[in-house]
Amino acid sequence: MNENTFDIDSIRKDFQNLHIKVNGKPLVYLDNAATTFKPQAVIDATADHYKTGTSNIHRGVHTLSQQATEAFEQSRDKVRDFIGARKSCEIIFTKGTTEAINLVASSYGGAFLNKGDEIIISEMEHHSNIVPWQMLCASKGCVLKIAPFNDQGELIFDEFAKRLSAKTKLVAMVYVSNSLGTINPVKEVIKAANTQGAVVLIDAAQTVSHLPVNVQGLDCDFLAFSGHKLFGPNGVGVLYGKEKLLNAMPPYQSGGDMIASVTFEKTTYNVLPYKLEAGTPNVAGVIGLGAAIDYVRSVGLTQIAEYEHELLAYGTQALSSIDGLRLIGTAKNKASILAFVLENIHPHDLGTLVDEEGVAIRTGHHCTQPVMKHFGVPATSRASLAFYNTKEEIDCLVRAIHKAKDIFK
Ligand code: ALA
Repeated sequence: MNENTFDIDSIRKDFQNLHIKVNGKPLVYLDNAATTFKPQAVIDATADHYKTGTSNIHRGVHTLSQQATEAFEQSRDKVRDFIGARKSCEIIFTKGTTEAINLVASSYGGAFLNKGDEIIISEMEHHSNIVPWQMLCASKGCVLKIAPFNDQGELIFDEFAKRLSAKTKLVAMVYVSNSLGTINPVKEVIKAANTQGAVVLIDAAQTVSHLPVNVQGLDCDFLAFSGHKLFGPNGVGVLYGKEKLLNAMPPYQSGGDMIASVTFEKTTYNVLPYKLEAGTPNVAGVIGLGAAIDYVRSVGLTQIAEYEHELLAYGTQALSSIDGLRLIGTAKNKASILAFVLENIHPHDLGTLVDEEGVAIRTGHHCTQPVMKHFGVPATSRASLAFYNTKEEIDCLVRAIHKAKDIFK
């Protein structure tokens, strides 16, 4: 693919999954916030590892093991460059965003947070950026504070700032909300938190496939994302952490590869990043993630962001014109999410009816029950876009919604 052109037809050819039929209709896949399709390059890289390259890593002198180790570590370098980290040892491979956040809560929180310390999260967090902190608070006696958002779904920055104090030891915040699409002003959040000496974790699960992210530019302490939402394999994700912090943290899990030496009297730990990667990792997944990053970079995140912005504006306009439809999440600064409720039709009924037309959307609380509570709804319908979607697909969604409305008349 040419780096300087955004050729949607050529892009769509790379994703076989876009060209299937569901219920006899051409699939319109608008559930990209749940998981993304994989380009052929990712499927090939993963399959090639299993077909002819299978080996464990960091453990063998034989050729296959050396090759697998090299490919695995190359992926780490690709992640480093993709998010602008200073060093490869700041990239820890995990199962996904959830494990990355749990790693920080357990290891950093367990070692450095104490009774009375405060943690701030926002009202729009995914459950995976709420529950680990609640569990940490329960075990250590810390206090969880919630920064609210307004009725457009925008973080109320002054309210966040009011909750910051010398007692704040950690701020954990989502960059792009999975249920609202809001792009949070994380750079300002980090700056404000740092003035109080708090460390900041950014949940970038819904960000890295839509916007360029640079951890040094943001100056975040930790950042987490998942491979499967970045057109890569399932079961692999990334925790970025500043070297100084990761070095100070105790191991999260223990076992092979995270040790320097073991005797029954005393064990010493490996250096970064291995200290935080116990056990055989998802080798094929990490290699596939490297291929996904190559793919996304070949399309170009700036082009992706521009194209998706146009799609989102088109979709917002198209959905807003439907009688009885209320958009949930209308922040000025938004990415890729069109969430809504429809008068007289429960989201699950709508989801089932549009599926009959081949249109895949997610319905439910999207693992953000506090967001549902804020808007006084049990659930929403959510169309979430990726750079391989088109305006014609949004038209299909609109037609399918009208059809569902006719049935419920
Ligand atoms: N967190 C994913 C979503 O928003 C699964 O659908």
